[in-house]
Amino acid sequence: MEIRIERTKQPKKRPTDQEIGSIVFGTRFTDHMLQVDYLKGKGWHNARIVPYGPLSIDPASCCLHYGQLIFEGMKAYKTSDGSVVMFRPDQNMARMNKSCERMCIPQIDEAEMVRAIAKLVEVDEEWIPSLPATSLYIRPFIMADEAFLGVHPSDSYLLNVILSPVGAYYKEGLAPVRIYVEKNYVRAVRGGTGFAKCAGNYASALKSQVEAEKEGYSQVLWLDGLEGRYIEEVGAMNVFFVIDGTVVTPELNGSILPGITRKSVIEVLKGWNMPVEERRISIDELAQAHKDGRVGEAFGAGTAAVISPIGELKWGDTVMHISGGKIGAVSQRLYDEITGIQTCTREDRFGWVYKVK
Ligand code: PLP
Ligand code: COI
Repeated sequence: MEIRIERTKQPKKRPTDQEIGSIVFGTRFTDHMLQVDYLKGKGWHNARIVPYGPLSIDPASCCLHYGQLIFEGMKAYKTSDGSVVMFRPDQNMARMNKSCERMCIPQIDEAEMVRAIAKLVEVDEEWIPSLPATSLYIRPFIMADEAFLGVHPSDSYLLNVILSPVGAYYKEGLAPVRIYVEKNYVRAVRGGTGFAKCAGNYASALKSQVEAEKEGYSQVLWLDGLEGRYIEEVGAMNVFFVIDGTVVTPELNGSILPGITRKSVIEVLKGWNMPVEERRISIDELAQAHKDGRVGEAFGAGTAAVISPIGELKWGDTVMHISGGKIGAVSQRLYDEITGIQTCTREDRFGWVYKVK
């Protein structure tokens, strides 16, 4: 893919690393963005890196009415020797294609897209913060932009990639978060779009999120949509529990997002010979194990959230306090290992690091 580059003539003032560490996640954007067009019969074409700015789209664009829009979330890091790296971008591009397939969006060339994103990151390299717990969040998304009001897949698309220098996703940082177990609303059902990273999944989750926040909770833990019994995932991360020393996480079932951090956590744990199980786990089982004092830790895992300890789960009248409000040993060890690999301070045993420059 040939990429035309048009550099901005009005670079913005980049926040300092300290500022990045304290601003709300995903509220600042770099100087440039990547765009690629798609037209039926022509395929993906016209890749360009241009100054960051508003999009001009037809008000009848399909994505605005029917939500034919998918996205990804990944990160780039500046290492202590000045290199720039991305974490497992091949996995994000593979998942993007799975989301595309589900939402009738044409496939992308995964390797070409990784290279194009690396080019964008290189152009905005100066924006990558280097303080611990900071990074450059990369947000690729594909929107259906054909103008029509009938309900059918669009014949044209715009792929965009924007970049945001970020610190912690939660204001709590690495301090444990409080999570609300949702009883009334559902996120996904069998045969639905739960496994895809499509905008609609997040839109339909907002009401529950708002209600949980009103009660002082950071996010919602979703249960399965059919029986309301089995644990699925948290709003922006997959979930893990340490029960009797075994790390348990819900198995992928089509309604859970297959997280890349989740997959990495499982591979790291296996590498440490720690017992890890991907299986169905009901909220009753968890509550009983908690009552019996067998739940040592709970944590979420995601690109934005990294490893995020969970200090409290509220399920109806049952409140589970976990780890005495502190980060547990397994969560801390995983956080150190995964962020260490991401920033090249620990050995990249699995070959997960993609060198941009
Ligand atoms: N689950 C949901 C609903 C998410 O939005 C995310 C974030 O992308 C995750 C899980 C974690 O996935 P990943 O580790 O690939 O970021
Ligand atoms: C991510 O971790 O990349 C996410 O997408 C979570 C959230 C910002 C939607």
